[in-house]
Amino acid sequence: MTLKLKTLAASLLLAAPMAMVSFSSLAVERVTLKLAHNLDNSHVVHKALAEMAKEIDTASEGKMKLRIYPGGQMGGPRETLEMLQNGALDMTKASASEMEPFAPAYSIFSLPYLFKNDKHFTNVLYGQVGQEMMQETRDKGFISLASYVAGTRSFYANKAIHTPADMKGLKIRVVATPTTIKLIELLGAAPAPIPFGEVYTALQQGVIDGAENNEPSYVQTRHVEVAKFYAEDQHTAVPDYLVVSTKVWDALSDEQRNIITTAAKHSEEYEQKLWADEVAASRKKAQENGATFIQVDKEAFRNVLTPLYDDFKNDPQRAEWLKKIEAVSDQ
Ligand code: GCU
Repeated sequence: MTLKLKTLAASLLLAAPMAMVSFSSLAVERVTLKLAHNLDNSHVVHKALAEMAKEIDTASEGKMKLRIYPGGQMGGPRETLEMLQNGALDMTKASASEMEPFAPAYSIFSLPYLFKNDKHFTNVLYGQVGQEMMQETRDKGFISLASYVAGTRSFYANKAIHTPADMKGLKIRVVATPTTIKLIELLGAAPAPIPFGEVYTALQQGVIDGAENNEPSYVQTRHVEVAKFYAEDQHTAVPDYLVVSTKVWDALSDEQRNIITTAAKHSEEYEQKLWADEVAASRKKAQENGATFIQVDKEAFRNVLTPLYDDFKNDPQRAEWLKKIEAVSDQ
């Protein structure tokens, strides 16, 4: 490329997150999409997204590119979702909890002990209910293209938690949603809404006593170093979502959308395959770092948290989603 052309290409890229240059002789138009997320590049969701980028590149014969910015370089999900809305970014990753403020459907994943088993969870996620949910935010300026399993979330702290009573008075970081805040309060603890990237320092400095997450995030964020007790209460199963701006999505051609949709589907399968090994490896690493995994009586936690179900049943929209999920097979 000549310098002039390079400058033109660069300014095109800067001018719009989605820069298209069309060549009539080619079946697919050139496009570069930018995707930012807050996970480490060793995280399986990042690996799945990187595979997706490769597949899009190959399937489009190099005409379509997905440029990924990991590790919260562009901020947390709140910021990146906002960037999607104002046209500054094309795609991001957000957990269901982070999607909850935009569509009540996603709140269902913050309801503790909802899924009967893993099959029930994946049948919801990858079945009709999940598909329907992924369109729910269309009027907010984005939709989900893929969903990724993220195991179960448990509490971890700088002191041992064996029963719900041990949670009393603890300051616990959560992805703040009405459901998660109530969940923490029902346990007699105090919810602290701190961005993912700031939890390590908050734990280290004693601003909070604990947090809750799956094993890979507990380890990759190094929270394990400053909160040694991981209580396996497994209160929720909160998936991650690949989210795209509807403006960007609707501007793509059918062929471009097909390429992305197919690669997104494959990325879901790939991530699901990696997940179990990642959890096992994270547990091993946590133990090597001095973590203690504590078996707890989940029933005791479930009992304390049942009032959340009444909240859902009393809210017509959320009650509807609850019914739909309960009707999905667990086989
Ligand atoms: C998990 C999840 C992320 C989320 C994070 C959090 O790691 O995969 O999407 O941002 O939890 O607790 O903030």
